[in-house]
Amino acid sequence: MLIDNHGRNIDYIRLAVTDRCNLRCNYCMPASGIQFLKRNDLLTYEEMLRILTILSKNGVNKIRITGGEPFLRKDIMGFLKSLSDIETINKIAITTNGTLTRPYLSELIALGIRSFNLSIDSIDKTRFERITRRTCFDEVWACYEEMKEATLDLKVNAVVLKDQNIDDIIPMVALGETDNVSIRFIEEMPFNGDGNFYPKLEWNYEKIYHHIETHFGTIKKLPDPKGSTSLNYQVEGFKGTFGIIPAYTRSFCGSCNRIRLTPKGTIKTCLYDDGIFNIKDIMRAGATDIEILQAIKEAIGHRAIDGFEAEKNRSNRPTISESMASIGG
Ligand code: GTP
Ligand code: 5AD
Ligand code: SF4
Repeated sequence: MLIDNHGRNIDYIRLAVTDRCNLRCNYCMPASGIQFLKRNDLLTYEEMLRILTILSKNGVNKIRITGGEPFLRKDIMGFLKSLSDIETINKIAITTNGTLTRPYLSELIALGIRSFNLSIDSIDKTRFERITRRTCFDEVWACYEEMKEATLDLKVNAVVLKDQNIDDIIPMVALGETDNVSIRFIEEMPFNGDGNFYPKLEWNYEKIYHHIETHFGTIKKLPDPKGSTSLNYQVEGFKGTFGIIPAYTRSFCGSCNRIRLTPKGTIKTCLYDDGIFNIKDIMRAGATDIEILQAIKEAIGHRAIDGFEAEKNRSNRPTISESMASIGG
């Protein structure tokens, strides 16, 4: 088991397989001028499988695949097939923007992958395309419909953006009246690829909750699964649920069970830290499995208590300026 210095059990890794994306969501990336990683700077699938095998023998049983957009990485299905063959991993989940996912859906389900977090910041085509700076709404919506029909464990992620998608909050909660999905509203974070622009957060957890409660009236609090980032709720009589993720106000750190591996192989023990060490470098220098495990244990043994401490301890890049696509969320 991997236990951190605050007694938290680490059983979950988020793996960002690429920093590339075919959308340009304005809270995640600038419109242009992004320098994506070169192929040799990326972890190879073999390297990822080696790390994940080591971790899964030491208590990590859930892997979330993120990006960038995971389905942009070449031969992602071959990788997912190999991953699903690792017996000690019992849950593989994917966070995707839904633009390229649909053709793979039946194959993913056949591999036993049933848990999808789909990013849809607006259900209004014009607003969606303004936020993402691309014209993919119809395909993403078709992906939502298909995932919904397949009765998967489906969560929809919407980052709440002042002056951009506030009018979507109520209609998106209302999807739950008929659809068995969890619609999650995320507080905007400063990981927008442009350290100079981050508005004071107005639409925080409390304001989002109040907005929803004012419209729908009685709302039932649901139990939150272990390690959940979202506080979960249900409108009386609805099939689906909704959640709010206090990603910026960071109230869930006390039960944080996750570490991250970025596309270039940086281990992060908190979303808000600036990277603990590069695992690719030690692997390519010939580290053994035992040495790799030791390095991970060392990092886990010195975790910040919460996202505020992790942010305060940043040294390489004191101001947050990374794009979420280079971290994986
Ligand atoms: P599951 O619990 O596996 O469903 O994952 P999730 O909901 O955390 O993952 P997802 O990829 O859907 O991310 C949703 C939002 O939560 C994104 O904005 C993430 O950046 C944010 N998030 C995920 N993990 C953390 C975390 O540890 N800390 C903070 N502050 N935000 C997080
Ligand atoms: N703040 C909050 N969430 C973000 N995401 C990307 N950038 C940000 C940000 N700056 C979300 C995506 C996706 C998840 C992995 O992270 O919308 O749903
Ligand atoms: Fe792409 Fe996700 Fe970033 Fe949007 S938030 S640009 S979909 S990586």
